[in-house]
Formats: sequence, C-alpha cells, structure tokens
Amino acid sequence: MSEPLFRTPKGTHDVLPEDHKYHTYIKKVVRHRCRQAGYKRIDPPLFEHTGVFRRGIGEHTDIVEKELFTVTGKRDGEGEAREFALRPEFTAGICRAYIEHGMQQLPQPVELYSIGPCFRYDRPQKGRYRQFHQFDLEVIGLKDPSLDAQLIHVLVKIFSDLRIFNRLTLQMNNIGTAENRKAYVEALKDFFIGKERQLPEEDQRRLKENPLRLLDSKEEDTRILIKNAPRLDQFLDDESRRYHDTLLEYLLELGIKSVPNPNLVRGLDYYCQTVFEFWDSSTGAQNAVGGGGRYDGLIELLGGKPTPGIGFAGGMERMVWHMKEAGVRAPDKDQVDVFVAQLGPEAKRQCLSLVSQLRELGVHTLGALGEASLKSQMRLADKFQARYTLLLGKMEVKENTIILRDMQAGKQRQMAFKDVLPEIIGLLGKENLDTYVLRDHIVADED
Ligand code: HAM
Repeated sequence: MSEPLFRTPKGTHDVLPEDHKYHTYIKKVVRHRCRQAGYKRIDPPLFEHTGVFRRGIGEHTDIVEKELFTVTGKRDGEGEAREFALRPEFTAGICRAYIEHGMQQLPQPVELYSIGPCFRYDRPQKGRYRQFHQFDLEVIGLKDPSLDAQLIHVLVKIFSDLRIFNRLTLQMNNIGTAENRKAYVEALKDFFIGKERQLPEEDQRRLKENPLRLLDSKEEDTRILIKNAPRLDQFLDDESRRYHDTLLEYLLELGIKSVPNPNLVRGLDYYCQTVFEFWDSSTGAQNAVGGGGRYDGLIELLGGKPTPGIGFAGGMERMVWHMKEAGVRAPDKDQVDVFVAQLGPEAKRQCLSLVSQLRELGVHTLGALGEASLKSQMRLADKFQARYTLLLGKMEVKENTIILRDMQAGKQRQMAFKDVLPEIIGLLGKENLDTYVLRDHIVADED
C-alpha cells in the first residue's frame, strides 16, 4: 500500500463501519432510555459565541484556558470579526438555548438530551481526543434530590443496557454552595502558604487561579500535601449536607451503589452541590466514562433568571472501548443476505429488477452487475460473506429457473425463477427482514 497523501488531523479519527455498529447501538439505547424518562432531543449548534463557554465553563478551567477550538468568523458589515468556538461540551449551549427560547415558560423541569461530536484542543492520548462524541442529559428548572437520583438512575440503565455497568463505579460528592467553596478556597490557600514550592509548577499555577483543582490533581507531591489540608466537606452548610444525605437515601432506594469521594470536584466551574462521575473500576479517574453534576448558578451567569439544573455527559469513545473490552458484540446490521450473480445480457436485465425487488422486501442484497465470470462473482460473494447467492446464467434464463446457493453449507439447488422471492424470505425469516416501518402515521396538508 502506498503512503496516503493525507491523514486525519492529530487527535481525530474516522468512525469506521466497524465502530459505527457500537455508536449506533449506544445512540439507540440513549434515545430509548431518554424517551422512557420524558427527555426531549435538542441539538445546539457545533459552534457558539466564545463567551457562552468562557462565562459558562469558567475562564480558569483547562477547557477554556487551553482547549477551546476557536474559529474567527468574517467581519459582519462594519463590526469586529466575531470569535466563535467549537463546542467543547453541551451544557453551556443547552442553557443558552433554554434562555433564548424562553423555556422557563414550559412545565418544569425541562428535560433535554443531545448526542454528537464535541471538540477540545487537548494533548491527544489514549481515550483523549480533539474530536470526540458525547451523549448528554440535562434537567433544568427544578431542584430536588429526587431529580438527581432519577437522572443517575437513567444513566445506570443506559450503562447496564450496554453491558458495561459492572465495569464502572459511581463516585459521588457534594461540593456545597458557591459561598461554602469560597470559604474553603481561602482555607486551602492559607494551608498552602509557605508550601507553594513543594507543588509542581502546574499546580502552583492552579493554586493561584483555581485552587479547588488541586483536590483532584494527579501529581504525587500534591496528593501527599492534600492529605493534610482542610477538607471541603468540613465547609458544607447544613442544607447541602441534608441534600446529599437525602440523595444517597434515594439512590439506596433505587438499589444504586456509590462510592463517596471527597476529592471529586470536576473540572468545570459551573458546578455546585451534587457532582458525580462514572469511573473505570480498574484504572480509576484517569479515564472517566462520564461525569456531571448540579449547576444552579449557570443560567443566571448566562443572563437568565436564577434557575437550577443538573446534568451529565458520557464519552462515547470510552464507552465503545469498554464494550469491546467486555466482549460485547454490537449487532451487525450491515450483513449481506443475498448476492446476485449473473451472466449474459438477458440475465443481467432480469437481475436488475430481482435485486430491486429483494431490497424492497427488506433483504440486504448486492448484485454483481459487471461482466466478470460466474466463478469470480462467486469468489466475490464469498468475500462479502453473503449468506445466499443467486446465480442466473444463460441456461437458467432459457429455462425460467435460477440457482440458489447456501454459502455456508456449500450446497446449491435449481428452482423456478418465480418461486425465488418467497423462498429467500422463508429462509431468512420474516422477522429478520430489514423493512422500514413507520409505526406512526403522519399526514401531510396535501393528502
Ligand atoms: P466532562 O467531564 O468534561 O463533562 O466530559 C464528560 C465525558 O466526556 C468525560 O467523562 C469523557 O468520557 C468524555 N470526554 C471529555 N473530554 C474528552 C476527550 N478529549 N476525548 C474523549 N472523551 C472525552 C462535561 O462535558 C459536562 N458538560 C457534563 C455535564 C452535563 N454536566 C452537567 N451537565
């Protein structure tokens, strides 16, 4: 094979048919579980005004500071050229949409979900890409621990349907209100006075700009120091404590086990109180499959009325990885049922409509309509792993017959051409036909 002239940019990849089987299945499960729980689909644009993310996610978060993919638009009329950013996540965009479309007028809470690509200009490594896919759930407009519990329950159902729930642990924390965290950050800063030099360079910077991030630092030196630092839970107000206890009770009621993790703070600024992540039970935090939490101040920060919210996003590439590791085989909907081989101009003509009829009946059909010999067409059918091959040569056309070959059994038989469609359907089974059923009746004005 010659070296290709172009390759995908670093940190991006083609989702090839082999992986699409998994993506399709994940989307199906997410849609199904979301619909069951009353969520409606929303797709915010792939890019937004940079301010949505800067304000929403926070200036001093890794995502905004280092990972925003910015796009400069052309100048509109006399004005400045606008700066946009590809969405690094869904939450800020969905909250912007909630305000923009007056969704506070709808019955609350408004439950929304989305599925699609997100972009972060991070250093690519295993499980960390510059373009990746998330599924995202948001519950906006009402606050109650039972909503947090129900959201987590939907996620548990999704991961269970995908057969990966037993590979994950649910890590939970409550990071209190903005005031609680402010007091805590002061205490943390005091604790580090005189110890700054013992921190790695990156964490010295964090201490100045976003000290909470020290809690989930991966640096060994920082982790040792943090062990003796004041703990965030000592600064929680009574309401946050009660909220968390009630949430844990509700989770217990739903049979959901969680691991208390006092160092879980999450990397986005909008969180308050409930935060949680699903971790790989064997490797831990490094590659969380998903995370979320409460963001009661976000909508106000984006210009709306004070409105509570909670949500979650899962990383689809990481989920696909887990499914493969667990030996989950996503259903293959692309199998070839029938390969139609032919020889001679009349056979070719008849095969055109035979192929079309088979497809219409829901049979996945390939037709070799070139001029190759029957033998090489059969080899092709083998390569495509077709279950059955239909052969129509000059003799068969003359006799109004066709040859049906079972590729796996290696057996073939001749039959009347007119019987071939019901025969194929009988062999495949009606329930296995890929028919497009519109279960819901739609009406057009012109009808
Ligand atoms: P997040 O923790 O930044 O949360 O991302 C959620 C998940 O997206 C991660 O756990 C991970 O599986 C996946 N992910 C993130 N970055 C990458 C990457 N570079 N490559 C591959 N996968 C990645 C959020 O995005 C929040 N918006 C979640 C949320 C919704 N909170 C409230 N509502």
